[in-house]
Amino acid sequence: MKSVAGEIKSQGKIIGFVPTMGYLHEGHLSLVRNSIQKTNTTVVSVFVNPAQFGPREDFKDYPRDIKQDIKILDKEGVDYLFFPDTDEMYPRGYKTYVEVLDLQEKLCGRSRSIHFKGVCTVVLKLFNIINPDIAFFGQKDTQQAIILKRMADDLNLKVKIEILPIIRDKDGLALSSRNEYLSSKERQAALILPRSLQKAKRKIEEGERRTAVIIKKIEEMIGKEPLAKIDYVEIVNLEELNAIETIKKRALLALAVFIGKIRLIDNIIIEIKKKGARFKE
Ligand code: PAJ
Repeated sequence: MKSVAGEIKSQGKIIGFVPTMGYLHEGHLSLVRNSIQKTNTTVVSVFVNPAQFGPREDFKDYPRDIKQDIKILDKEGVDYLFFPDTDEMYPRGYKTYVEVLDLQEKLCGRSRSIHFKGVCTVVLKLFNIINPDIAFFGQKDTQQAIILKRMADDLNLKVKIEILPIIRDKDGLALSSRNEYLSSKERQAALILPRSLQKAKRKIEEGERRTAVIIKKIEEMIGKEPLAKIDYVEIVNLEELNAIETIKKRALLALAVFIGKIRLIDNIIIEIKKKGARFKE
């Protein structure tokens, strides 16, 4: 992959890169299509990265279907698929990790302590192998995207990081490879995530700016869903991911909720303008 990327670069082409863990859905494909549109060569990686899963998490059970992924990427017209082995990425004796301090401990970092260290490490390795000009990430994982942007700035990487909107099913549930695990009852219960965000959105549109009031409303709604258990509901600033009391300009409303055993995340980004509130969702 390194020599292929080197050759592409020597032809003066712009490389777009979409890192994934596979089991591809329309969310991944919107990143792929953006890359194809904006660059000359698109590389997609499929690698279920053990370093970002905790010991009690679902690394072994994470859904995988490389044959189907290859078919899908072929159809999209992707130029290269990179799917390395675990041993190739983390050979015996591997010892180097990348951490983005503070940010990695916020939100999802509280219940997934090594997660972002694993994400940053693998993404930096992939950047070094593929040497992309632009890398595409989804707002679905806003904290991940913010941390990776910080890493790219702090480590003087030349790659530009683009963040694209969340792709949702018709009923509002954000697409995720993990939705695959949900029973039909759980799938229905999972709608509490987008619905509670929509409720919060309406409150903000009506003028509510106190985060405690908005969070309480969401907690009440989710509390009524018997299959759901809240991991966190937070409204934070986009720079430090610190909790804020009042929404002033820009804020991230993020939540993580267990539906049965499956942990799902969702978020909206709030922007307060003179004319009223705007949302990226
Ligand atoms: P994965 O969960 O496979 O997601 C790959 C990319 O697709 C991420 O940038 C994610 O934000 C984006 N994505 C997932 N669901 C989306 C949706 N519904 N709408 C829009 N974008 C969506 O995120 C990872 O893999 C890994 O942590 C990775 C970055 C590959 C490092 O291992």
